[in-house]
Amino acid sequence: MSKTIGIITGSLRKNSFSGSIAEYVKDHAPEGYVFKTIDIGGLPLYNQDYDGEDLKEYTAFRSEVKALDGVLFITPEHNRSIPAALKNALDIGSRPYGQNVWSGKPGAVISQSPGGIGGFGANHHLRQVLAFLNVLTLAQPEAYIGAYHTLIDENVALSNEATKEFLNGFLAAFAAWTEKIS
Ligand code: FNR
Repeated sequence: MSKTIGIITGSLRKNSFSGSIAEYVKDHAPEGYVFKTIDIGGLPLYNQDYDGEDLKEYTAFRSEVKALDGVLFITPEHNRSIPAALKNALDIGSRPYGQNVWSGKPGAVISQSPGGIGGFGANHHLRQVLAFLNVLTLAQPEAYIGAYHTLIDENVALSNEATKEFLNGFLAAFAAWTEKIS
């Protein structure tokens, strides 16, 4: 049976660069793996008052994450950190206390930016949160994809061959990591 990995992107915008990488990943999943996008754009801001209630958006999101065999985060950097929407989703999945749906899942992080350092700040802030949430995050290879606007075609699809090759290797390493710890 194939393993299902959720892709969570830190961007809500149409034609997002993170979404462009997500599309490539979905089309080039290693054998035995299916990658599917988990939408975080409709999640209300996390509020602890709802912990004891069945808020439908939170409940559906937590169930969706719980069912996954792993999580791949693909994110831009916002002001040297992760976008608020992504932090919101991480917080929602972490609660109510003692019911952290991220715990024990294999994870991996890809950051991208038009800038030269490829979202390094966001990548490492995200790794810090994932460590606390007990996501078993792939250490190597790291993925900081810089100058992303130069790697795509007019439809925002990834077109740079070296980046495709890098991502193929990254996905193979993530699959091997997932097998190792599952
Ligand atoms: C940015 N951007 C950005 N880029 C970067 O390399 N470092 C940064 O700190 C920031 N900060 C930042 C803040 C805010 C509020 C926005 C809207 C943008 C640029 C942004 O990360 C870049 O355009 C991404 O490549 C966009 O990714 P998506 O949204 O297309 O996936």
